Amino acid sequence: MPEQASTIAQQVDALFYYWLGITLFFTVLIVAAIILFVVKYRRRAPGEIPRPIFGSMKLETIWIVIPFLIAMSLFVWGAKVYFAQYRIPKDALDIYVVGKQWMWKMQHPTGQREINELHVPMGRKIRLTMTTEDVIHSFYIPDFRVKMDVVPGRYTQMWFEATKPGRYHLFCAEYCGMNHSRMTGTVIVMRPDEYQAWLSGNTSQLSPAQQGEQLFQTLGCTTCHLNGGRDAGGRGPQLAGIFGKPVQLEGGQTVVADENYLRESILNPSAKIVAGYSAIMPTYQGQVSEEQLLQLIAYIKSLSPQSGNAAMTSANAAQAASSPNGQRR
Ligand code: CUA
Repeated sequence: MPEQASTIAQQVDALFYYWLGITLFFTVLIVAAIILFVVKYRRRAPGEIPRPIFGSMKLETIWIVIPFLIAMSLFVWGAKVYFAQYRIPKDALDIYVVGKQWMWKMQHPTGQREINELHVPMGRKIRLTMTTEDVIHSFYIPDFRVKMDVVPGRYTQMWFEATKPGRYHLFCAEYCGMNHSRMTGTVIVMRPDEYQAWLSGNTSQLSPAQQGEQLFQTLGCTTCHLNGGRDAGGRGPQLAGIFGKPVQLEGGQTVVADENYLRESILNPSAKIVAGYSAIMPTYQGQVSEEQLLQLIAYIKSLSPQSGNAAMTSANAAQAASSPNGQRR
């Protein structure tokens, strides 16, 4: 088995060994029974006719009840581990991942970019928000026992908390073309102080939220998305404070403003119209790259600090608060 280097690894392994144990037990039991019965009930004389058997309530009850209990134990335990692994915690460090044939591109909440390498602090929950520029890939770190498909046209998320400093394999686990087998990388887990030092040795970029804010202005989003929305004369809804909140749509439906909703609203604005607004927003399909989309979303997230958005450092928050466009959000 690969090393156990995340908080979930032991739980996954314990479940795996339990399952393996059950499988081995029944394999041995069945093979032993076959051998025993072959010997014990072999034909002893030519023309011998076996004694007929007419059912056994006791036996049938046993082989219904015992497998049922075993199957349910696997189901309950499996569901428990599944929820631990796939319920994304709110208090996590946000890292954005974009896959493409055949590399992984990452961006840290403080702006640092990496290709096929991911530096993370140990003992901290890390949340990855992932998409791809082309085909389906799958982000797989065996030592952490985590794997998640990376799908074109939408965001998938996964999380982990690394427990040991070191270098760990990162694989693409979905066949994605000629160089799929070389779409690999390294996750470097560092002690928190080392991670801070690494970050400060690589700060030449704006944070995703800051880059998103710049894009928000250059694309002209500020013209319509005013703070206060319609009441302030805005032609588009206000974006501050919406992330993670329910949004009332035309026609009475309600959706939660998550990453996938924001993405759809940027690329296909007429798909879901917010109640009280008209479908006048143009599409930005083809005008923004996957990475820019993630930056726009990081910016919109940063306008809702209570959504548990860890991407906002205090420096970013101060920067955002003193921004000259503060009143236009
Ligand atoms: Cu990407 Cu396989």
